[in-house]
Amino acid sequence: QRQKRIRNFCIIAHIDHGKSTLADRLLEKTGVLSARELDDQVLDTMELERERGITIKAQAVRMPYRAKDGEEYELNLIDTPGHVDFSYEVSRSLAACEGAILVVDASQGIEAQTLANVYMALEHDLEIVPVINKIDLPSARPEEVRQEIEDVIGLDASYAPLVSAKTGVGIEDVLEAVVEHIPPPVGDETAPLKALIFDSYYDSYKGAISFVRIMEGSVKEGLDIRMMSSGREYPVTEVGVFRPGLTPIGTLAAGDVGYVAASIKNVADTRVGDTITAVENPAAEPLPGYKKVNPMVYCGIYPADGADYEDLRDAMEKLQLNDASLMYEPEVSTALGFGFRCGFLGLLHMEIIQERLEREFDLDLVTTAPSVVYKVIRTNGEMVLIDNPANLPNPAEIEHMEEPMVRAEIMAPPDSVGTIMELCQQKRGIYEDMTYIETNRVTIRYRMPLNEIIYDFFDSLKSRTKGYASFDYELIGYERSELVKLDILLNGEICDALSIIVHKDRAYPRGRAIAEKLKDVIPRQMFEIPIQAAVGGKIIARETVKAMRKDVLAKCYGGDITRKKKLLEKQKEGKKRMRQVGTVQIPSEAFMSVLKMD
Ligand code: GTP
Repeated sequence: QRQKRIRNFCIIAHIDHGKSTLADRLLEKTGVLSARELDDQVLDTMELERERGITIKAQAVRMPYRAKDGEEYELNLIDTPGHVDFSYEVSRSLAACEGAILVVDASQGIEAQTLANVYMALEHDLEIVPVINKIDLPSARPEEVRQEIEDVIGLDASYAPLVSAKTGVGIEDVLEAVVEHIPPPVGDETAPLKALIFDSYYDSYKGAISFVRIMEGSVKEGLDIRMMSSGREYPVTEVGVFRPGLTPIGTLAAGDVGYVAASIKNVADTRVGDTITAVENPAAEPLPGYKKVNPMVYCGIYPADGADYEDLRDAMEKLQLNDASLMYEPEVSTALGFGFRCGFLGLLHMEIIQERLEREFDLDLVTTAPSVVYKVIRTNGEMVLIDNPANLPNPAEIEHMEEPMVRAEIMAPPDSVGTIMELCQQKRGIYEDMTYIETNRVTIRYRMPLNEIIYDFFDSLKSRTKGYASFDYELIGYERSELVKLDILLNGEICDALSIIVHKDRAYPRGRAIAEKLKDVIPRQMFEIPIQAAVGGKIIARETVKAMRKDVLAKCYGGDITRKKKLLEKQKEGKKRMRQVGTVQIPSEAFMSVLKMD
């Protein structure tokens, strides 16, 4: 029977444990790609991903494999993003599989994301095949790690292949373990069509392409399909598999993984988690687990030079073609002019988008401090969601506010527990518990406001633990909190782009820190500039940028001509990056500087 020779699986791992390298080796071993073609890591398609070593978009590749039992198998490797921001997408990719390879670095052992990923895989009833990677490293301790996998996760790791994805040792063992331990798919080919979309991307010729796992029934070219979440209908133009390029094969049936193209104009119409069914003889119920993802973090993005607004809008449109989870809408700031309010799945997603705008579209940007989404309950009982401090209602109209909370899980060596706790406490964390994993690692759990994590929590954590801590978080809901809006006034005028929402106990130190920072980055001008931090009209901190002394300009006169030219050149460069806020010129960096505090 056909399904007996199919294996659908993904690879889960902590960042840097070698997921992409192992995937490449599997492709090479099964002849899907030659070693030369593998110069570029194929599963990570975007340059940025490669540079940052982060897999963002899930994809799938079909690999033929003749196993030691003499049978020819069809192995479908589904690549999953490894970061918490994309946990919904990960969950849909897992739902498309029967098993997962768990890659654990033989020198690092188990880390926070390893556990988070394993729990998620177990929730989806996946069979987990542990693989111990990087055994070529001198610091590798494969047998200890094997024991750790058994003790901490409770998996049978006795058969876990020992591999080096770098040198190619043990790759065949991995393929054999997949065939042997991961169960084949089941699903009735004659039932009404149910195909799970686990990813999609935009192709300029074929339109939005859905990556699917067929759960029941079958799909072929020419069939009229319906997206069950929206009810929209399309005729299928192409059905195929990835090898690793798009290869049309005409039909896909229950158990298969592949793609469906149907001249769909917009990736927003191929939603991850949605179920595709047939217009004729449709499925009664969609597959479980679909949800519409909402942004968790917002910020304002503005062109550094107002003249680039149209370019920024074009770039946003292009990015959104491929990323339905990126939200944006036009926004006007008195300080920054025309720009966009953008919503992201999380901090990493935000950084990726900002970097792509600057790199791929060559734009100079000014971004405002990130904000989470607050619930504001007005005195009249009405609830509003606020993602921009500038839109916060008048304090007199606010009954109370609620902020999103996360459960943070930090894994680190025991000697850094003190400094980690100190940091978490500073960030308004509420201690939950601590467990030892072996003697050399502990897991610490805190309940924390998301608002405190989006500033520079991860960077602080890394520097305090010399990079040894790993961190993961999940949203656990909203809690009532004493929050206030902190405004910054320049020369007596509120600069809207610098306003932030903070806990009332943190308003004073933060206001003072921002004022001090601004004093350093705002250059002297012809007049004195007071910088004030205020909460609800009450000034809580004040600094002053002194007026320029006349002889600063004198430097330009006399002296050699090239130096003068350089100075003028520099001034021009600097001017472009200045923003006029009321009467005050402030450099673009000023807006960034409020992000890095403490
Ligand atoms: P993300 O894409 O960030 O999730 O990382 P990843 O898990 O895909 O890791 P990746 O394959 O990019 O490998 C991370 C680093 O480890 C790279 O520098 C690899 O060259 C290296 N690496 C991977 N496998 C091995 C191995 O078996 N031995 C050694 N020495 N290095 C390896």
